[in-house]
Formats: sequence, C-alpha cells, structure tokens
Amino acid sequence: MADIALVPLRMEHVAAVLDLGYRVYDTSVKPYTSWSLSAMAHHLDSTEPACWAALDGDVDAARLAGFVLGSMGFDQRTDWGNLEWIATDPDYRGRGIAGRLVEACCESLVKAGATAVVTDVESRNAASATLMKRHGFREGVTVTLFVRDAPPAADGA
Ligand SMILES: CC(C)(COP(=O)(O)OP(=O)(O)OC[C@H]1O[C@@H](n2cnc3c(N)ncnc32)[C@H](O)[C@@H]1OP(=O)(O)O)[C@@H](O)C(=O)NCCC(=O)NCCS
Repeated sequence: MADIALVPLRMEHVAAVLDLGYRVYDTSVKPYTSWSLSAMAHHLDSTEPACWAALDGDVDAARLAGFVLGSMGFDQRTDWGNLEWIATDPDYRGRGIAGRLVEACCESLVKAGATAVVTDVESRNAASATLMKRHGFREGVTVTLFVRDAPPAADGA
C-alpha cells in the first residue's frame, strides 16, 4: 500500500476536509454541532495554524485520507494550543494515520510556543479517547452538557 504523506493543510484541501468532516461527525450532537466552514477557517486564519492533511497518491490527484485542525489559544489561554478537529476517512482507519496527525499538530503547536495542548473528547468516543491517550494526553476536567428540553407547545398555540 502506498505511503500516506502528511502536508500542511492548504486552501485546495478545504472542500475535501469539509466534506470528510460532514461524513464522519454527527453534527446533530455536541461537540460536532459547530463543524462548519467557519470552524475550519478559524484555524486556518490563525497566525500559527497547526493544520495538516494526510494525502494518498500524487499531489495533483491525491485523495484526502485524514486531517487535523489546530491553532494556538484555547478560550482565554493564549499559551495553550488547541487540537480541535481530527478525522480519518473510514477507508484509511487503523493504519496509524490519526496518530501521525496528532503528533504533527502537537509538534507545530509546541514550536509556536504552546506550554500545553488541549483537546476535548466526547465521552462516548472511545476511538478518539484511545488515540489521545496513546499520544501523551491525560484526562483533565470533565464538563457535562446538561440539557433542558422546552415544554411541549400547548394545543392551538
Ligand atoms: C478517532 C479516529 C480519528 C482514529 O483514526 P485512525 O486513523 O483509525 O487512528 P489510528 O490508526 O492512528 O489509531 C490510533 C490509536 O487509537 C486506537 N483506536 C483507533 N480506533 C479505535 C477504536 N475504534 N476503538 C478503540 N481504539 C481505537 C488505535 O488502536 C491506536 O492505538 P494503538 O496505537 O495503541 O494501536 C477515527 O476513528 C475517526 O475519524 N473518527 C471519527 C471522527 C472523530 O470522532 N474525531 C475525533 C473528534 S474531533
């Protein structure tokens, strides 16, 4: 099987990244509800982007195997890097591609001055939790989203 190359994510990859994200994230539930072109742009616009694409094939006709989107800053912590989005195409899973993407992203963030890199993992996402633990992340604080549904509308309202 041909090698998968990691390259800095460029504008020409944006459509494929957006599409892969929509295929693999359930955008009806947190934290994936914010997946969008503007979520991507936030990272690409950063003065210190840490965004990588994993490509299968020649540069001109390469297929996107996976991506990671990171940038400096997390909430008010300007000294933290944020690895916010990562995905591997289902056809390419289990080959260590996400692990390589995590390492590339973290290396970029540390070079940019990050004193730590943070990422959030949805509690049922075992694949993502294992991936992060295997690559040096330890569990920090847990935040649970409590949801209060609106009461049903009264008849005739
Ligand atoms: C999470 C995801 C990126 C992993 O991609 P991948 O390329 O298959 O991961 P890798 O092959 O690099 O595996 C990395 C580690 O995670 C583990 N892992 C991967 N998939 C797993 C699964 N379904 N269950 C348990 N562990 C899993 C691997 O065993 C590996 O650990 P190891 O090195 O000890 O063997 C991929 O499943 C995915 O795209 N999921 C949907 C998107 C998503 O949930 N992204 C995270 C939130 S933004």
